[in-house]
Amino acid sequence: MKVFTQYSTEFKLKLKDLSKNEQNIAFVPTMGFLHDGHISLIKKARQENDVVIVSIFINKKQFNNKSDYNNYPVNIAQDLQKLKEQQVDIIYLPEDKLFYQEPIYTNININYLTDKLCGKTRPGHFSGVALVLIKLFNQLKPNSAYFGQKDFQQLMVIKQLVKDLDFPILIKEGEIIRENTGLAMSSRNSRLTELERAIIAPKLYDNLVEMAKNIRTNPIEVVKIIKNTKENLIKSGFSKIDYLEIYDDNLNNCDNYLNGRIFAAVFLGKVRLIDNIKI
Ligand code: PAJ
Repeated sequence: MKVFTQYSTEFKLKLKDLSKNEQNIAFVPTMGFLHDGHISLIKKARQENDVVIVSIFINKKQFNNKSDYNNYPVNIAQDLQKLKEQQVDIIYLPEDKLFYQEPIYTNININYLTDKLCGKTRPGHFSGVALVLIKLFNQLKPNSAYFGQKDFQQLMVIKQLVKDLDFPILIKEGEIIRENTGLAMSSRNSRLTELERAIIAPKLYDNLVEMAKNIRTNPIEVVKIIKNTKENLIKSGFSKIDYLEIYDDNLNNCDNYLNGRIFAAVFLGKVRLIDNIKI
């Protein structure tokens, strides 16, 4: 396992060497504080490719909230141990100042797909995600890149970006990995209190499952079902609903709710949790 902290000559030579030898390179971008959601993507990448590169980089440009950025959990030693266990070949841990050589004036705008959900409630977020990924894709030139359905809108945005800009990269996806309680794994879960994590946070998934069931039995009542679910979430202890909406898997409005996917973002104290499930 080799760790690079900058896009150095040595790193470039290593990458050149791999492509010369026609090695199939998989890339798993992360912001670290790795959990089994990340590990499931890495395992998949490991099975399907010759070389696996994992990046850990808390990308300042995608945070629209300073305190969220400042409180983002970090544990590099633990992450490196986990990556070693998964036999990852290359870890890329870029330093902020070297990665973003300021000033940067390029701004990537992805229309339509970002008009809703996290794109609407976190202005600039997906421009930041797009910027970091374009830079990483250009530097590493992977054959494939792995993303989780936990961030479903992000996955759609990345697929569109790769298609629109002709990146020769296959985008692979992994299903949502959950804690035993049903709570979708997230690095931010570590910022919850023990009680919040064990009792309140799992109620997000419970409510989504119940909501999907109610829509399946009574699709014409969808407006009422959304309203009731929002009320139940607040009663369960969530402080604020950022959104609770239904779209199809291309993020279009649903013709038929039975083919829809429920998307939710809620706050539990200061921590923002997102989840989605297929109806
Ligand atoms: P991060 O939140 O660290 O997630 C890295 C990858 O792991 C993303 O593709 C995300 O969808 C996936 N992931 C996270 N939790 C998961 C879960 N419970 N089940 C399955 N997959 C999960 O997403 C980012 O970082 C950043 O936006 C990034 C793409 C690295 C760009 O900065």
